[in-house]
Amino acid sequence: MRKRGSEELQGKTVTARHKMPAGFGPSALKSYLDERLARVNAYLDGCLPEESRTPETLHRAMRYSLFSGGKRIRPVLVIAGAEAVGGKSDQVLGLAAALELIHTYTLIHDDLPALDNDDYRRGRLTCHKVFGEAVALLAGDALLTKAFELLSNPKEFPSVPPERLLDVAGQIARTAGSTCLVGGQVVDLESEGKQVDLPLLEYIHVNKTGGLIVTSVTAGARLCGAEQQSLRALARYGECIGLVFQITDDLLDVIGDRETLGKNTGGDRVRGKATYPAVLGISESRSRAGELTGMAIDHLAAFDERADPLRALALFLHDRDR
Ligand code: IPE
Ligand code: IPE
Ligand code: MG
Ligand code: MG
Ligand code: MG
Repeated sequence: MRKRGSEELQGKTVTARHKMPAGFGPSALKSYLDERLARVNAYLDGCLPEESRTPETLHRAMRYSLFSGGKRIRPVLVIAGAEAVGGKSDQVLGLAAALELIHTYTLIHDDLPALDNDDYRRGRLTCHKVFGEAVALLAGDALLTKAFELLSNPKEFPSVPPERLLDVAGQIARTAGSTCLVGGQVVDLESEGKQVDLPLLEYIHVNKTGGLIVTSVTAGARLCGAEQQSLRALARYGECIGLVFQITDDLLDVIGDRETLGKNTGGDRVRGKATYPAVLGISESRSRAGELTGMAIDHLAAFDERADPLRALALFLHDRDR
């Protein structure tokens, strides 16, 4: 299969004023990501039961999906959002881990035969292909539950007032629930094979994917005591990159490389999914992604250089090939 370079995915409308922030180029972003991801991964490893713990199949399945090369975008956004308002990554590691646990559960369930019926994820067979549907379903349940176990434990967040933690946990529960993520997934399924207009498509994307990204960007900042004005700007930024994230996911299903992505391509068309390329075409979808990326960065105008990782991440996510 032909490899597609990231330059092919670049929207033409990310203008020169939106190049990587001075002093925070691609190599700075790479070290930033490597350092934060190592900490998130160590935290996740420490909070999940060992594979040898009974029931072994369940714990193996949970670890199989969690430690299989996900990009860890949501935990990075939690940390970058916190740092943008002067917080420290240490204060939000439990929150970053919780969002990755929730995200991984959604992927396990999303791949089940009853939903998207996918065989590959993160470069390996999907959870249900290896452990069977019942264990995959339950591994997802257990990852979701683990997230709220972390979020309800003030010891994981020693410097945070408990009422603030409760507030953030409530925000995450609403995002993961029927009026956002799960609701978006249901409408995604109900729309298969149907003619979908742009408002409905946007509803699906904003809810099934955008919500968790908005919450990732804002929850870390919120935990660190950010003011309303900063939280509002971060939420606007998150809404833009959240939509770009799913538009790009849709584009990669059409023009991406299976090996680079670690999941099969072409499934959206086969299943008649409501996607940006299906509704707007490839070129219009790319322009929309480029435009939204520029808008995301504009929403950070009032932040100083501590928001440079967020600025760089917006461009990185726009240009991603996996
Ligand atoms: C895939 O998410 C599912 C969507 C919400 C589009 P990611 O692209 O973040 O998947 P991983 O975590 O890197 O595997
Ligand atoms: C998944 O969207 C969204 C959630 C898991 C909530 P997709 O179904 O497009 O994600 P992929 O393409 O399978 O990763
Ligand atoms: Mg899906
Ligand atoms: Mg899917
Ligand atoms: Mg997809």
